[in-house]
Amino acid sequence: HRILLLGPPGAGKGTQSTRLADEYGLDHITTGDALRANKGMETEYGTPGEYMDAGELVPDPVVNEIVVTALEDADGFVLDGYPRNLEQAEYLSEQTDLDTVVFLAVPEDELVDRLTGRRVCSECGATYHVRFDPPEEEGVCDECGGELVQREDDTEETVRERLRVYRENTEPVVEHYREEGSLVEVDGEGTPDDVFDRIRDVVEG
Ligand code: AP5
Ligand code: ZN
Repeated sequence: HRILLLGPPGAGKGTQSTRLADEYGLDHITTGDALRANKGMETEYGTPGEYMDAGELVPDPVVNEIVVTALEDADGFVLDGYPRNLEQAEYLSEQTDLDTVVFLAVPEDELVDRLTGRRVCSECGATYHVRFDPPEEEGVCDECGGELVQREDDTEETVRERLRVYRENTEPVVEHYREEGSLVEVDGEGTPDDVFDRIRDVVEG
């Protein structure tokens, strides 16, 4: 499978693509995680962290490089967080074909709640939510015992900026796949299990 998972910040792309990768034995290619692991890397455009902490997009050449390297090694994959503008979509179409394009639809109020309540494990990267998916012990990862922290860009102000950037740059990408006829919209509300069942139906369609 070559799956693209699109959706606004907080739609559940990370949660669902991790499950898809497990279920079908796919590489999980996520530009957000790759960039977070290299926030301080010096590039000719500055560091990725300068853009990320402000909620802005990291320049295309830096992100395209990450994706092309990951695609070289991947047999099947689920792509999460890329493409985020029409230029990236164009670049991607030159690198690979896609079998399935899923758009996860979630209303904006719910996105803000999900992101401001998200906690991530500082050791293993597992994702939680203070209300929707709390760990057994507050602030401690169920998987590895690591400390749970809030992502730098999950403050309400930066979340609003990320949503603005999404509307301006990424919604045209969603429209592009919709017009092409390849996009399948999935309701991203309900429990993560409910959403996963819906995506699986599309993938196995
Ligand atoms: P990135 O890491 O890709 O962030 P994002 O797109 O904003 O998406 P998120 O990771 O915030 O949300 P998600 O949809 O994965 O939701 P999750 O599953 O965690 O990018 C971060 C930054 O990196 C960008 O701002 C940019 O600077 C840079 N960047 C990345 N890619 C780039 C690119 N291609 N070009 C340029 N720059 C790039 O879920 C969210 C929360 O909700 C969690 O707490 C979870 O537990 C909870 N949750 C999940 N599902 C449900 C459910 N069904 N019900 C209730 N709660 C749920
Ligand atoms: Zn952990």
